[in-house]
Amino acid sequence: MLMCLAEALLRVPDAETQDRLIRDKLAGRDWERHLGHSSSAFVNASTYALMLSGHVIGPQDTGRWDPEGIWRRLVVRLGEPVIRQAVAAAVRLLGRHFVLGRTIEEALRESRPLEREGYRFSYDMLGEAAVTRSDAKRYLERYRDAVRAIMKSSPRAPSLFERPGISVKLTALHPRFEDAKRHTALPELLPSLTRLAGEARAANLTLTVDAEESERLDLMLDVFEALGEEEPLQGWDGLGIAVQSYQKRALPLIAWLVDLAHRQNRMIPVRLVKGAYWDSEIKRGQEQGLADYPVFTRKVSTDASYLACARALLASPHAIYPQFATHNAHTLSAVEAFAGKNRRFEYQRLHGMGEALYELYGEAVRPSRVGAGTRIYAPVGSHEDLLAYLVRRLLENGANTSFVNRLANDEAPVDEMIADPVARLAAAEPKRNPRIAKPEAIFPGRRNSSGLALNDRNEASRLIAAMRWTLGSQEHVALPIIDGEARERPVTSVLDPSDRRRKIGETGEATDDDVADALG
Ligand code: FAD
Ligand code: 2OP
Repeated sequence: MLMCLAEALLRVPDAETQDRLIRDKLAGRDWERHLGHSSSAFVNASTYALMLSGHVIGPQDTGRWDPEGIWRRLVVRLGEPVIRQAVAAAVRLLGRHFVLGRTIEEALRESRPLEREGYRFSYDMLGEAAVTRSDAKRYLERYRDAVRAIMKSSPRAPSLFERPGISVKLTALHPRFEDAKRHTALPELLPSLTRLAGEARAANLTLTVDAEESERLDLMLDVFEALGEEEPLQGWDGLGIAVQSYQKRALPLIAWLVDLAHRQNRMIPVRLVKGAYWDSEIKRGQEQGLADYPVFTRKVSTDASYLACARALLASPHAIYPQFATHNAHTLSAVEAFAGKNRRFEYQRLHGMGEALYELYGEAVRPSRVGAGTRIYAPVGSHEDLLAYLVRRLLENGANTSFVNRLANDEAPVDEMIADPVARLAAAEPKRNPRIAKPEAIFPGRRNSSGLALNDRNEASRLIAAMRWTLGSQEHVALPIIDGEARERPVTSVLDPSDRRRKIGETGEATDDDVADALG
């Protein structure tokens, strides 16, 4: 909630309007209507916010846990200008925690002591979901500058995989990175991305394509495949990609990547993550009325999928350089056990997270010098580009299923935290999460309207074939139907909205009497 407010506030230029927004969001009745049903993410996010603000006001003040009440009282007690400044301060505080530097130069300075300890870095120039071409151009230029700066500051390490790298979100580099726009997005994006990747290659830096929303995956893979075939990038081992194990397609995707590595005659660095967009994947599946979710609904399914994917990556050492990104001690230990003596892989953590885990790992493996390398994913940028990233980190830290959240909770049973997810999943019945209904069944007493997954190429092509057949094959007349009987009414033509010269059918409107009959 704090982040929603912060995001809105950052877009409002003057203090007076900002205060009015705070009043509206926090003190008005509207607030109750929208946010009165505290979802766990909201409660957790506000708990986190309150914790960070140093207990400005805590549950003890109110006698019961009532986050809406707390915020309302805060406005009354402190007034909007104080809240405005507190929100801005909270964002700055969080920003400093999760972002390595505001500029690449600052980030490179910050990374130096950790590099001396043996950590590697992948720099992420914050920015995503570009809306205009000029946004996309700006993000691209930042990456190109970053490549130049990293090259200058990083002495040549012996091997490519020990070198720093950059992590790139394709939605930052094209304003319509959507499957429906693939015929323009791919050819428009490819030249600039090839140039950036070519510059990274020349600087001996790796480039990883971050994984984003599941509906962009097909297009992302098209771009990734095409990129590997561009002349300046052929045979390059430094072009990597992130795979999300919460997606039901994760394991087949790894098989596809292994095949791609063979076809392109190169290694593919694959960063295995669980996935940072789980809440929005679920929400979007419900909004769109999909047949089912693209992601698993039980946390243990994602964990088990991660382990299966880890084994699949380690099983193809000639095609894949595995990069295991996790802050979960069980996941790391499982990978360590699967890998055995094989050390041709690395771990990854986010800046501002997992420090203790990787320090312990370093201490445990240092005496025998058998540890795998660890890379830190380091966001770089200023507050305007930070919020989407920050919200994902807040959700991750705030979710009570999350390992880092449970670790901070003294009451979470350790045995449960380190239980084998495969055994837990085998014992779980039903396998899907009974608390997350399928999209069609989310409303009590009625079915949700069903939608079409237009970003799913199989579904879209079936739909287009059916539309072609229907449009080409019949005369369409739509009439009011009451008690199963069509009523003849004067008709008007319906034109194809994409080509107004084409008549696609006729429609006869219901009269008031028809409506009364239907209701009666
Ligand atoms: P855990 O606590 O073991 O797992 C938490 C994860 O479980 C959640 O994030 C979610 O994926 C999953 N989960 C939670 N609840 C459920 C549920 N009910 N059903 C199913 N699954 C559930 N994420 C991306 O999406 N794209 C990236 O490119 C990306 N890059 C990253 C790079 C690095 C170096 C790191 C460390 C992380 C990156 N992430 C990325 C974020 C990553 O997805 C999360 O940090 C990760 O999911 C946390 O997993 P964990 O093993 O640390 O923690
Ligand atoms: C994210 O942006 C780290 O790519 C991951 O949330």
